Amino acid sequence: MNSLIEAALHVRERAHAPFSNFKVGAALLGEDGQIYAGCNVENATYGLTVCAERVAVFKAVSEGARKFRRIVVAADTNVLTPPCGACRQILWEFCGDIEVILTNLQGKTESLRLKDLFPRPFDASFL
Ligand code: THU
Repeated sequence: MNSLIEAALHVRERAHAPFSNFKVGAALLGEDGQIYAGCNVENATYGLTVCAERVAVFKAVSEGARKFRRIVVAADTNVLTPPCGACRQILWEFCGDIEVILTNLQGKTESLRLKDLFPRPFDASFL
């Protein structure tokens, strides 16, 4: 788990966040032990910004990964930063009830389950 936290902190430094100055890193652990890391990538239109979590998930999916163990989300906040609503939906789609570990630059961590962050999801079971 430490290497996953380190990966999230490391990729956070690559965030393209000139508008918010709020850098986020995410590291997603595949079932096979592969780490898929992503940072937030902002855009001058603001609305086209993509969060770190979604970058990590889309990288993993495009590399062929489909099963995941946990994700770490790293940001520089005392109150640990959780995934936004859109990212919770995307995480549910591809990861189900995954472990979500929040961390900050001081090494504070908290482990949550996605089902607690995202109760009663809409998903493919309704279609
Ligand atoms: N952001 C993330 O990347 N992940 C989160 O969990 C929360 C928000 C980004 C989006 C935007 O670039 C910046 O943080 C401020 O909202």
